[in-house]
Amino acid sequence: MAARGVGLLTLLPLCARRSQVLRPIHRLLSRAGTVAADVRREEQSSGSVETGSEDRTPKKKFSEVQKERREQAQRTVLIHCPNKISEKKFLKYLSQHGPINNHFFYESFGLYAVVEFCQQESVASLQSVTRAPSMDTEAAIPFRSRFFNLRLKNPSNQPSEQPHAQCSSQSSPSSKKLFELLCYAESIDDQLNTLLKEFQLTEENTRLRYLTCSLIEDIAGAYFPDCTVRPFGSSVNSFGKLGCDLDMFLDLDEIGKFSAHKTSGNFLMEFQVKNVPSERIATQKILSVIGECLDHFGPGCVGVQKILNARCPLVRFSHQASGFQCDLTTNNRIALKSSELLYIYGALDSRVRALVFSIRCWARAHSLTSSIPGAWITNFSLTIMVIFFLQRRSPPILPTLDYLRTLADAEDKCIIEGHNCTFIRDLNRIKPSGNTETLELLLKEFFEYFGNFAFNKNSINIRQGREQNKPESSPLHIQNPFETSLNISKNVSQSQLQKFVDLARESAWILQQQDQDRPSPSSHQPWGLATLLLPSVANSLCLAKKKKKKPASERIKNLLESIKRSSAENSTDTNGESTVSTQP
Ligand code: CTP
Ligand code: MG
Repeated sequence: MAARGVGLLTLLPLCARRSQVLRPIHRLLSRAGTVAADVRREEQSSGSVETGSEDRTPKKKFSEVQKERREQAQRTVLIHCPNKISEKKFLKYLSQHGPINNHFFYESFGLYAVVEFCQQESVASLQSVTRAPSMDTEAAIPFRSRFFNLRLKNPSNQPSEQPHAQCSSQSSPSSKKLFELLCYAESIDDQLNTLLKEFQLTEENTRLRYLTCSLIEDIAGAYFPDCTVRPFGSSVNSFGKLGCDLDMFLDLDEIGKFSAHKTSGNFLMEFQVKNVPSERIATQKILSVIGECLDHFGPGCVGVQKILNARCPLVRFSHQASGFQCDLTTNNRIALKSSELLYIYGALDSRVRALVFSIRCWARAHSLTSSIPGAWITNFSLTIMVIFFLQRRSPPILPTLDYLRTLADAEDKCIIEGHNCTFIRDLNRIKPSGNTETLELLLKEFFEYFGNFAFNKNSINIRQGREQNKPESSPLHIQNPFETSLNISKNVSQSQLQKFVDLARESAWILQQQDQDRPSPSSHQPWGLATLLLPSVANSLCLAKKKKKKPASERIKNLLESIKRSSAENSTDTNGESTVSTQP
């Protein structure tokens, strides 16, 4: 605490100068992007970066958010528009079918509009006046979806002085913009919150994700009329970065449920069905047919791959209009439950998301994570590592999963395939943490903690919030929170783990160095988080590493020892346990 007080005092004149410079730069940046999108993003994000302990507004349950978003998506249509379109005329034309609740435009190989009607009947009304396209050279497969193409009957009738539609951005900021924002931030805490604001999914992007699932549900509904396609993973767990993939789960559980309570008397009616030898084969058959369907009839679905022999069989495809890379699975209810758990952790304290986003961006900048499957660490594993680290603080910032289970009531009880997935779902009933550590301190300590973690013998376990002996010999062992016999990072190789450890140590060292020698804002030098993130920094770190014989130099180790000693003096040590190298 004492050390933080000194840090704040010494920073004060610097902060004052920074905020003076910040205003004109912000103005310049909003002019470069779309103003409306920036303003909307500001409004939305400002709500999300309040701390859990400060923000007293009741937070919605995960299931409530899912239900609301799903209903919203069912009233929504996606329209490919001509490039120059008058927003006013467009809305007037569509309003013939009923009042519009919300709309926005975005660009992705053409101009698209997402239009949410107030009532679902408006969608049917629009569909009833829509014709199948007439093709000159190709033939069309007729499919009445909610994805339309709008054409101008007479393009020359659209006067050029009409104000055209403003587009909402669906991508993260350029490195240059990010560099400017981070350099002019007032503190490292401010940098982490800025990064969160810039990279988190926008309201529009979230709507587009739910809409895409809803459009896929229409296609799957041709085979399974009562199915539901639900998003899960980072699209809904509050840790998604703009550009992240869209994980979908084809839920067929609702189908059989109707019969259960509608039977009467001594009769029990069952559907005649085809039997297959196992649940896995059923999953493979269902996904195979849905994959074919997406490939042949799904408007905008391209590059469909059926990956049916994976541990969790899936269909991967690109949804061209939204730009999302989609992974469709079925029988994956546990993953939906872990998305709910992560959503709760993300909402409990604002520091959680800020720290996770920074660690995800840091890992990406250093190629620790990749969009290609391989021996890399994944974003999901990194998120669990941050949650674990925050459970280990003193006092803890996040509760353990076991504790969340003790708070659960009868309605929260959830057993899936024999796995106990019970935890409290109403996050307003969880007491906020009394821990007041700054993000700056947490970032530094995260790197230090995992730079010295005994990966060779210990497993990371958020259920109990403490290290456990590794049950198997994978280099990195992170227990799946619900399927406790599974290791979510089984794919990670020793060399990738060592790269993570080396970079964590170097990052801790860089932050420690900058504590003593922070560049002035007028020097335009990257500082704090910017030093750790920018590609130039990643490259220089790589170059420095190439020159070194040992992965981590003695100098860094010594410095880390001294950091540890000083942090122990400031009583920030969380567990008092000794640390050993990752090398077996
Ligand atoms: N999942 C899991 N076990 C794994 C991998 C994934 O339970 N070994 C579940 C998690 O719930 C995860 C979801 O599947 O959130 C989606 O996986 P993935 O797309 O890899 O991770 P995301 O959390 O969505 O992160 P990203 O932004 O990288 O897509
Ligand atoms: Mg994902």
